Amino acid sequence: MTITHANAQQWATDYEEKTPQEILALALENFPDVAISFSGAEDVVLIDMAAKLGKPFRVFSLDTGRLHAETYQFIEKVRNHYKVNIEICFPESAQVQEMVNAKGLFSFYADDHKECCTVRKVAPLKKKLATLDAWITGQRKDQSPGTRLAVPVVQADAAFSGAGKQLIKFNPLSNWSSAQVWDYIRSNEVPYNALHEKGFTSIGCEPCTRAILPNQHEREGRWWWEEATKKECGLHAVNIK
Ligand code: ADX
Ligand code: SF4
Repeated sequence: MTITHANAQQWATDYEEKTPQEILALALENFPDVAISFSGAEDVVLIDMAAKLGKPFRVFSLDTGRLHAETYQFIEKVRNHYKVNIEICFPESAQVQEMVNAKGLFSFYADDHKECCTVRKVAPLKKKLATLDAWITGQRKDQSPGTRLAVPVVQADAAFSGAGKQLIKFNPLSNWSSAQVWDYIRSNEVPYNALHEKGFTSIGCEPCTRAILPNQHEREGRWWWEEATKKECGLHAVNIK
């Protein structure tokens, strides 16, 4: 049975107890035009799992132009380690130029992150998703009690579906904890971003990510000057009710 917007919820129920590898296999087997959305942080486990499944897979990453040097190095490391092409998506230079020339390079501290994330992340994502039928993310329920508690393993992505197209979103790690992700990374010797050795847990753009202290929640270092309930950049707009 094909996965559609109408039956995605049923697939999510049927696959709720399955392993990330089974959910990943479901995505790769059902959609020729599917790709893993790779952020340069711990969701590299999806790439490792896909490589081990032995099925062809694609990976894309959104280069906002503001990533840490360590993240760029890590993306290259992953490309070489898995011999996989990482399709890099850049923002439209005219849009970035207009925003930066009008408001400077750090407007997000004064305005909030919405405008900059829209230009540098959401617009390029939209363009990429227009070429795909489904995408795979590393979102987990335990990343954010405010916005990710209900992330299903399979879902209709109405936020990015175009006219006449029903985009499906897979979140194979949804039910995994951070501890399970890191156990997997260690036991499978999966490469990881060097920033994780410097107190960073969740990693985004350099000006909008900082290291956290012991016992802080993993996303507290993201957009730390804003309220926890706003800590979504629009990539996962479907999470915000
Ligand atoms: S964000 O929306 O707050 O930036 P987060 O860093 O938690 O997202 O990552 C959740 C998932 O979104 C990642 O596992 C990945 O699938 C996707 N993602 C986030 N940032 C990027 C990026 N720069 N490029 C590609 N995918 C990304
Ligand atoms: Fe801009 Fe910060 Fe969003 Fe990156 S995370 S796109 S620098 S506001």
